[in-house]
Amino acid sequence: MDDTMNIYKEFFKLPGEYKAKFYSNDINKSCRLCSSTLAYDTEEFHYWRDNFTHHCYPLEEYIMTWPNKPTKYREVVSEYSIETRKLLYKILDMICKGVGLEKGYFEGELSKTNVISVNHHIPCPNPSLTLGMPVHSDPNLITLLQQCDVPGLQILKDGKWIGVQLIPHAIVVIPGLQLKVISNDRFITPVHRVVTHAKEVRTTIGVFLGPSPKSLIKPATPLVRTEPEFRAFTYPEFLKTFTAGAKCDAQFALNHFRNKA
Ligand code: OGA
Ligand code: NI
Repeated sequence: MDDTMNIYKEFFKLPGEYKAKFYSNDINKSCRLCSSTLAYDTEEFHYWRDNFTHHCYPLEEYIMTWPNKPTKYREVVSEYSIETRKLLYKILDMICKGVGLEKGYFEGELSKTNVISVNHHIPCPNPSLTLGMPVHSDPNLITLLQQCDVPGLQILKDGKWIGVQLIPHAIVVIPGLQLKVISNDRFITPVHRVVTHAKEVRTTIGVFLGPSPKSLIKPATPLVRTEPEFRAFTYPEFLKTFTAGAKCDAQFALNHFRNKA
């Protein structure tokens, strides 16, 4: 965990000329660096964040698109992505046991997309004017988050923003919206945001597991008593509604796929 965090701290310190080759606002690019999800001239608000993201699975398919600087990048990040993937499957199997699904239910198409997404927030001169990340819920299946030693992540609970405590070497597990749908509404997907820091640099490593584009998402049959809470949809269909129609409002997006009572 420390090696990977150090690799990313080093990565963001590399000269602009090197990082520029990854710079893109094209969300279809498998490995990219951006200073916000949208370009300055089209965005309504500018969030105080740099982000570096790439696919991790299957490793052989993507590793050649990863940076080769810092020199140990590929070695360290491939081990990290293999180990976090194993941990995610362990957690998913515990979830299966907890809700009453067969072991391995989430293996295959429901968890084929595995992305690493690193947030890097430089000090913000006036934290009251913007956020490091907007209010959102994670749209994927499940997320692991490793934070550095600077606070910033907050979750919304009973109408109040609560800071997520920093515990050294703890990993934050965030159930995503697909888990809420597949569990037939038994999971809560937390609403969260990131606040900026006036003095410190903050780096976090997110590992996102999500469905393949072709998989059909629907409540798991063993968890449906009478009627399923949601109709079946494909993940790209969900993402389109989530980002465009709902402007990342999870309830709005979920209601679009909810079966009427
Ligand atoms: C995210 C996220 C939190 C953080 O990437 O979806 O919520 O602390 N990150 O970086
Ligand atoms: Ni998030």
